[in-house]
Amino acid sequence: MSDYKNWKLERDEHGIAWLHLDKADSKVNLLAGEVLDELSELLDELRKDLPQAIIIDSAKKDSFVFGADIQEFTTLDTPEKSQAFLDRGHRVMNKLDAMPCKTLSMVHGMCLGGGTELSLACDYIVASDDNKTRIGLPEIKLGIHPGYGGTARSIRRMGPMAAMGIMLTGRALPARSAKRSGLIDECVPLRQLKTAAIATVLSGRMPHRAKGFKKLAGNALFRPLIASQMRKQVSKKARVEHYPAPYALIDLWQKYAGNDVRMLKEEAISVARLATSDTARNLVKVFFLQEELKRQGKQISYKPEHIHVIGGGIMGGDIASWCAIQGYTVTVQDQDPERLAQTYKRAQASFKKKYKRDRRAIRHAGDRLMPDHKGQGVARADIIIEAIFEDLEVKQTLYKEIEPRMKAGAILATNTSSIMLEDLAPCLAKPERLVGLHFFNPVAMMPLVEVIRGESTDDTVMQQALAFTQSIGKLPLPTRSSPGFLVNRILMPYLLEAVVMVSEGIQPELIDKAAVEFGMPMGPIELADTVGLDVCRSVAQILSKALGTDLPDNLDQLVSSGNLGKKSGAGFYPYKNGKVVKRKVANRQGIDEIQHRMIMRLLNETMACYREGIVASDDLIDAGVIFGTGFAPFRGGPINYVRDTGVDVLKQVQDSLYATYGERYKPDEGWSKI
Ligand code: NAI
Repeated sequence: MSDYKNWKLERDEHGIAWLHLDKADSKVNLLAGEVLDELSELLDELRKDLPQAIIIDSAKKDSFVFGADIQEFTTLDTPEKSQAFLDRGHRVMNKLDAMPCKTLSMVHGMCLGGGTELSLACDYIVASDDNKTRIGLPEIKLGIHPGYGGTARSIRRMGPMAAMGIMLTGRALPARSAKRSGLIDECVPLRQLKTAAIATVLSGRMPHRAKGFKKLAGNALFRPLIASQMRKQVSKKARVEHYPAPYALIDLWQKYAGNDVRMLKEEAISVARLATSDTARNLVKVFFLQEELKRQGKQISYKPEHIHVIGGGIMGGDIASWCAIQGYTVTVQDQDPERLAQTYKRAQASFKKKYKRDRRAIRHAGDRLMPDHKGQGVARADIIIEAIFEDLEVKQTLYKEIEPRMKAGAILATNTSSIMLEDLAPCLAKPERLVGLHFFNPVAMMPLVEVIRGESTDDTVMQQALAFTQSIGKLPLPTRSSPGFLVNRILMPYLLEAVVMVSEGIQPELIDKAAVEFGMPMGPIELADTVGLDVCRSVAQILSKALGTDLPDNLDQLVSSGNLGKKSGAGFYPYKNGKVVKRKVANRQGIDEIQHRMIMRLLNETMACYREGIVASDDLIDAGVIFGTGFAPFRGGPINYVRDTGVDVLKQVQDSLYATYGERYKPDEGWSKI
């Protein structure tokens, strides 16, 4: 048989042709153009000497196919180019779908995007029930929807509700859920995967198709109503002008469901259009930014065994349980035994949330996390994470006490959000072992950790801290020690401007609306209430000292009167049963100016960070602000936004705000350097 660069063809004693996908020069399989071209040739070859059946699997360890090659995606700068790209994919998938023998996709490990579409073009899909197996169509996260036939074929298998559900959320399913929802045929233990695949492909049974009630929702009679409900659901999370893809997918289904051939054709046209939109371009950029952050943690290999967390409060407690979930042995110390008991209780709740009914996993995570009132873990730990009160003296007293007991080579990491490492380090005999690991609240939800290099931080310690962060599934952002680091420094002026506007009598709801319309996940006033106004005030105090900005009086007053936001039941907004109570926005008057006032302060501070080199590149600024604050991902980060909109255009807005509001809008010199 002929040689293929990315595929190995093997025929077995059952007459089955096995197509082992093994993308050349790559650790994982991607459905690059070349891989598809070869598959097309292979299918032609097999048609000439038709096997009993075809099974497609992966020759890579523990992964199937991660999807299309996103790098290729970036070259599609015109709708014509993307149309041709998609048509090629469609031709191959259609060819596979139309093979005169039975075909099966045997999945173990990640099966995403194009990998799932390839599987859907087969008659059967059998997957391992391994923890590593995940099957999904996450294209929506890149500003498109499935474009290799995945729309029509997933609906054909699962019915519209389930299929649209996985496409609109981009959620990848574990094998068992995939089986339950009809996406795959069988889900078996890894050791039985091959046997099950062979038995299924030779079974002669009809390929799985959605039937009865599952299919009914696709009926032309119900589609308009269901589609409008879907649009309503989507609009709660994404605005059509920011994220057109989910709306395009719903339109596609509403118009063409029931006619697979037409739907496949229209799917390609729709994706060709979406792929060249600014949103898709920027979301692809965000994907690469995420990869860039992951790379920061892969420079060296570092395997700490024991983590000791000091401070079992909001942050320390959550960091400890997060590390235990990630497989580390963790001791957690607090001066207050009662607090420690609460920490353990809270950790149990997060284990239950994570592992659901898997009692063994819950027990194991619980076994890995040990309350340690006396701090005996200090002497055994490879990394000590300090998350005690935000007080220089208290932290230094602790450091002096623990340093003599630390293991040689152990790292001391502080979670401080506002104290400079240079102020903390002098009390240490070995200041080079001190690094910042700035987690965000809530730890389980926030993907970013700023890894702070102080003046005396050792290079290896910095690399180890980055690698550790990566090892716990967080995105490490190497940041220079400086007030507010990157994320809080950029976020705070934006947030404080919103607070100032409230003091001017502008309705908080209108301010939040202006921010959400820009693309922020939550308005700044609601965010301040959620984080806690006391926390905001303390970060703002430190920053206002360092950067010379004013602290709004109304923030001070609210904190002094005990209105700390959501946690105390009242802040800028009232709360009922833990839920914010908002009034209707009376009118939209002045909303553009409100938006400009907030966003320009954020951008101006971004320029300052860029000029000062707080992180090593503009991409890392964009990455930090997106993953640390949720800054409108479809805009690709603040620097990307400035470049896209035009430096001159935005600088003019900045100048005019400076003329109206004075000093706090003084354009940073960074504007002329970008
Ligand atoms: P917290 O007040 O909830 O918890 C601090 C815990 O440390 C308390 O349980 C206290 O008993 C314990 N503690 C204090 N001194 C101690 C000592 N000498 N030995 C042992 N335990 C001691 O505080 P939170 O909010 O968890 O903050 C901790 C650190 O994390 C601070 O440095 C803060 O700036 C930082 N941070 C806080 C964020 C937040 O949103 N709360 C976000 C990011 C960082």
